Amino acid sequence: MCGIVGYVGYQNAVDVLIDGLRHLEYRGYDSSGVALYNGGKINVYKAQGKLQNLVDELKKQDPSEIKSNAGIGHIRWATHGVPNQINAHPQTCNCGGLTLVHNGIIENYAELKTELENAGCKFKSQTDTEVAAHLIAYEYAKTKDLISALKNAVKKLKGAWAFCVMHKNEPDCIVATRKNAPLLIGVGENENFLASDIPAIIKYTKKAIYLNDDQITKITKDKIEIYNPDLTLSQNKVEFLPFEPMALSKMGYKHYMLKEIHEQPDVVRNILQDKIFDEISDIKLKDVKLTKEEIKNIKRIQIIACGTSLHAGLVGKYVMEELTGIPVDVEASSEYIYRSTIADKNTLVIGISQSGETADTITAIRQVKEKGAHVLIITNRNESMLARLSDSLLHVNAGIEVSVAATKSYIAQLISIYLLAIFIAENLGKEKSILNNIKHELLLLPSKLEAILSNASHIRDVAKKYSGYKNFIFIARGINYPTALEGALKLKEISYINATGYPAGELKHGPIAMLDETMPVLAILNEGRVYDKVMSNCEEAYARQAKLIGVANYIDDKHKQLFDDYILIPEILDMVSPALNVTVLQLLAYYIAEYLGKDVDQPRNLAKSVTVE
Ligand code: AGP
Ligand code: GLU
Repeated sequence: MCGIVGYVGYQNAVDVLIDGLRHLEYRGYDSSGVALYNGGKINVYKAQGKLQNLVDELKKQDPSEIKSNAGIGHIRWATHGVPNQINAHPQTCNCGGLTLVHNGIIENYAELKTELENAGCKFKSQTDTEVAAHLIAYEYAKTKDLISALKNAVKKLKGAWAFCVMHKNEPDCIVATRKNAPLLIGVGENENFLASDIPAIIKYTKKAIYLNDDQITKITKDKIEIYNPDLTLSQNKVEFLPFEPMALSKMGYKHYMLKEIHEQPDVVRNILQDKIFDEISDIKLKDVKLTKEEIKNIKRIQIIACGTSLHAGLVGKYVMEELTGIPVDVEASSEYIYRSTIADKNTLVIGISQSGETADTITAIRQVKEKGAHVLIITNRNESMLARLSDSLLHVNAGIEVSVAATKSYIAQLISIYLLAIFIAENLGKEKSILNNIKHELLLLPSKLEAILSNASHIRDVAKKYSGYKNFIFIARGINYPTALEGALKLKEISYINATGYPAGELKHGPIAMLDETMPVLAILNEGRVYDKVMSNCEEAYARQAKLIGVANYIDDKHKQLFDDYILIPEILDMVSPALNVTVLQLLAYYIAEYLGKDVDQPRNLAKSVTVE
């Protein structure tokens, strides 16, 4: 997490830095700060909480003090030390001559801190980051060269980092490095940039250079030098950035989350457009590099992901096993890392990640690559670290997602999983009629999503009615069990209401003990294999006085009285139904949070991309 920005150029640095940080706020909002080079000294300004507090703080300053052509900025998601002003970045060395911003974690900071304290360093903050400031300053004192100081200092660190460093004796330049945390260089004219992510700089340039792990860069307004770890010069290629600044506007919606939910029909159309042409032609996935022979040799599939992406993976298990007959395991990346997993050249490992930056998933994927498995990455960011680690890529192409709670990227992941499962099944020569039926449903999906979105006012009324409850249970069976998990996660994330997803059949094995009139149960019912079973579980909840909300494509008359409220969705094949059902749950969570006045796009304690393990 955390977002970092650096700027050297002809513009007033503080304006570029604040603008950049505003576009990185999704990465954290515990505190923010900037350091500005100003006539032989570096002025540091920091504020606790949202970026606006820093903006207010800067307004109080003497304009001549904040005028600068070089600076670094930071938006924090705290890992070490409470989110207060002292712990905000930039962090500085003893004399304040060196200042830096950091994204990541220094795992061995405690040992280093003791060593540095023994050597006379006075620590001001509780952060792990401050260790790096003292350490680089210590190295700089020896060599008077910021590049070698950074190189020597990072050798002593364990963990993950992207650093941007300035020193008062090194005017109008920034030195930066990274390891297991993102950092890109924006290439401008008479100005250059550093940033954790594209939105921070897209307004200013469409050209960027990606720094590799352990490379060091020095940027000035008209020069970019990149050094390999042995300090030989490197020529990294200049790439063109994919985003339009337009994608970063709310387009009249109150929150990005609502805008992103409403984009879902187009997101689906977008992914399908060059992959499914009609229901009878085979699916085309140009960046999936598996040959027919390799597909035939796949003995198992492992899906690794976190959070919402993990829920997409769970849907993937149902779809892939059903359509391909290949056994599928799904696991949270953070769990996968710490056990001896079995993968080999006949294993297809699918990593799913909206950001492509999630540290847990990156570590897990690096581990399996060593075992020779084919790594296929499903991501919304085809320039990300995970995309770069992939053997095959499915770019979900949902457009930038700003709201911390994932919505459109989830739908896009689901669609990608259907496409991949059909693609594998087609290559295995599986029964066409089933596959064609799913393709048919996928092609109809955008208009069904539109039907749900046009019924949003009903969902808003239901949300308002239930917004006072403190606990919810979401139940479903089969392919919609992950939908129940995802619906509950959305509600938790943005409204802070306790919501738990259960397989409906598990209710009677424990959770039913909690049921009474204070605990609404939301049941997802789809006509198909498990409809009657879920309905029986609804009866059980009804008998315990629980308030029941149904999300269903059909409720027969004799059962309607069970439900206090129900939201009907268009008819859809059970296998494709998660994509429709989840949209109802996203809207329900959104309207509850909005009604409660929560900070929907930037919920407390969260960050959009989690770059620490
Ligand atoms: C989604 O609403 C969450 N904020 C979070 O669970 C997220 O899905 C998770 O951190 C994984 O992120 P990724 O998809 O970028 O890897
Ligand atoms: N570890 C640093 C801190 O807590 C940076 C946090 C991060 O990048 O997530 O301040």
